[in-house]
Amino acid sequence: MNFKNFIFLFASVLLAFSCSSSSSDDLSNDPEPDPDPNPNPITYDMHISTIMSNNCTACHGNPPTQSAPFSLTTFTEVSTRVNSIISRINNTSNPMPPSGLMPQSTRELVQQWKDDGLLEN
Ligand code: HEC
Repeated sequence: MNFKNFIFLFASVLLAFSCSSSSSDDLSNDPEPDPDPNPNPITYDMHISTIMSNNCTACHGNPPTQSAPFSLTTFTEVSTRVNSIISRINNTSNPMPPSGLMPQSTRELVQQWKDDGLLEN
């Protein structure tokens, strides 16, 4: 059993016990587990793949063109390069895309994707 499943099972058992309790006053001190602290995380499928196809894959396609060194068309390709991607999309003297910086909100989404744990979907 992996750690995630263990936590889920553990939380389910806790929940089952608290529901079966007949008195409510002894529950008041129980910490309420937050079932989903970040309900709308940034994901590759929902946000990042569109940014890549709109701004990057003209060169970083499969196969790459215009001397781009690699393709950025899959979750694995993009997530494994996220640090160099973040550094180049915010590099004012040598930006990616080379035509100029993307809007700040777009660049922040990529950073947020990393902060949220590089989720695929
Ligand atoms: C017009 C073509 C073109 C577009 C569009 C483009 N790139 Fe690039 N990219 C290149 C070329 C050519 C290089 C290699 C030369 C260099 O590093 O500047 C490169 C290099 C990079 C590198 C650095 C590789 C390294 O080893 O340091 C990253 C990261 C990168 N691109 C990401 C992106 C991202 C992310 C986008 C979209 C937001 C993008 N690129 C859009 C052509 C492009």
